[in-house]
Amino acid sequence: MKPLKCIAAVNRDRGIGKDGRLLYHLHEDMRRFHDLTVHQRIIYGHHTLATFPHGRPLSDRENIILSHDSSLTIENARVMHSPDELFLYLDETEDERDVFVIGGESIYHQLLSYCDTLYLTYIYDDSEADAFFPELNESWAIDSRSSLYHEKGMDYRFVTLKKTGSGSIIETENKEA
Ligand SMILES: NC(=O)c1ccc[n+]([C@@H]2O[C@H](COP(=O)([O-])OP(=O)(O)OC[C@H]3O[C@@H](n4cnc5c(N)ncnc54)[C@H](OP(=O)(O)O)[C@@H]3O)[C@@H](O)[C@H]2O)c1
Repeated sequence: MKPLKCIAAVNRDRGIGKDGRLLYHLHEDMRRFHDLTVHQRIIYGHHTLATFPHGRPLSDRENIILSHDSSLTIENARVMHSPDELFLYLDETEDERDVFVIGGESIYHQLLSYCDTLYLTYIYDDSEADAFFPELNESWAIDSRSSLYHEKGMDYRFVTLKKTGSGSIIETENKEA
């Protein structure tokens, strides 16, 4: 299986969500998410499905949803019941498209170690969250950083990280740097 990619919007505390919802709805962030994932394959947890418009899978992408519910069927999505089943499916389908892990908290925790590229939106904000992105305790190095965006009273930027495999570098994001 080729390495997965991961995409998330995180705040200063690594917060990603609150009460089952996204913490932020930022126009440029949504646009970047769309541009990166459209016509690709996306993997997400059952709770994250509820955060999409009308609670439906996203169009123009292959939607792969993780749920333990063996009777669950979702129109325009493929339901997988474990990471093992997911990996088998990805191995068996010869497909050149990128595979993005798009959340939420539980899925990031389970699948981040299978990713080699991380598309983060860093939002320089401290809003309270109850869902968090994992701490980057693997060797991730910053590959590129966008300039600063400003929207809805918040500053944010896009940062792409690559797994280096060297085992020790933990990059932290700094607004002023
Ligand atoms: N900021 C961002 O970039 C971003 C992106 C996505 C989501 N979020 C936020 O993250 C929060 C949701 O995170 P979450 O952790 O509560 O939910 P989640 O990861 O979206 O979904 C959890 C559900 O996925 C299924 N699941 C998880 N692990 C599984 C496994 N190993 N095998 C089979 N099914 C599995 C289970 O579904 P069943 O209950 O059906 O068994 C589980 O209840 C929300 O606040 C959301 O807004 C933020």
